[in-house]
Amino acid sequence: MVDIAVIPVAGFGTRFLPLTKSQPKEMIGIVDKPVIHYIVEEAAKSGIKTIVFVTGRHKRAIEDYFDASPELEYHLEKQGKYKLLKIVKEISNMIEPIYVRQKEAKGLGHAILMAKKVIGNRPFAVLLGDEIIEDKKPLLKSLIDKFETYQTSILSVYEVPWEKVSSYGIVSGKPLEEDPNLLLIEDLIEKPSLNEAPSNLAIIGRYVLTPEIFKYLKIIKPDKKGEYQLTDALKLLSKKDVIYAYKFKGLRFDTGNKLEYLKATLHFAVNHKEIGEDFKIYLKEFASKLS
Ligand code: UTP
Repeated sequence: MVDIAVIPVAGFGTRFLPLTKSQPKEMIGIVDKPVIHYIVEEAAKSGIKTIVFVTGRHKRAIEDYFDASPELEYHLEKQGKYKLLKIVKEISNMIEPIYVRQKEAKGLGHAILMAKKVIGNRPFAVLLGDEIIEDKKPLLKSLIDKFETYQTSILSVYEVPWEKVSSYGIVSGKPLEEDPNLLLIEDLIEKPSLNEAPSNLAIIGRYVLTPEIFKYLKIIKPDKKGEYQLTDALKLLSKKDVIYAYKFKGLRFDTGNKLEYLKATLHFAVNHKEIGEDFKIYLKEFASKLS
């Protein structure tokens, strides 16, 4: 059973500077919730009970967000704002958080290794702290269901335009006859050039991993930028173990990227219960004035 997840949130978010100078990018708001709320919601809906956040300095706001808030709760109760009180209380009850520190931002692979002591010898999920995924069934739940069947590490991938392959970890593999959405991974390569890329299937921020991955996270070498890449450890694991890639076809927003963040904001704003209809009217008017 997979009921624990790791969410690394210790990166600098340099693509979003200067905003991220003193504000964690995972706490940037999308309508009325921070990015990390959407991600934790997906985990909770997928059956995750405990989340190990890998944090760093300047990330206290994340800890406070998932903690109880007695003064605010008292204030809302006194004012009779019971709907808001319920929302606020639900956030601190959504999951059990555990915090570990990554002292230096040495890459995603290194961040996940920091959770080893807490995870121990059990399978676990990974959700990247800046990627929001939207589908009828949560993507993480689909991965966990596949894990229950195949009992081996499973990544999620989606097709990106060929000219974008050099920004992603790319996989190649053979589709399973009985389950064509699942590929048996043959190769993985981090940020390949167009010529090197074996496909345009990019790894996205949801994984279910077996604890064997820690063995490889310990021995990988840093890349040119000094970062330890999870893809490199997965490549080593794939030589010893079967790893699958699940083809995702829903919506994905990398909110660490400014343009993608704005797209996510529009998506959640037009679908928002309270302001969605009014916002659509405004947006149509706004769009009609664009040249
Ligand atoms: P990113 O590569 O998107 O995050 O990592 P980043 O390094 O903060 O972003 P840029 O490129 O400088 O803008 C994906 C997730 O992994 C975390 C990030 O916080 C983000 O949620 N991460 C990344 C860590 O926890 N530690 C790291 O060393 C690197």
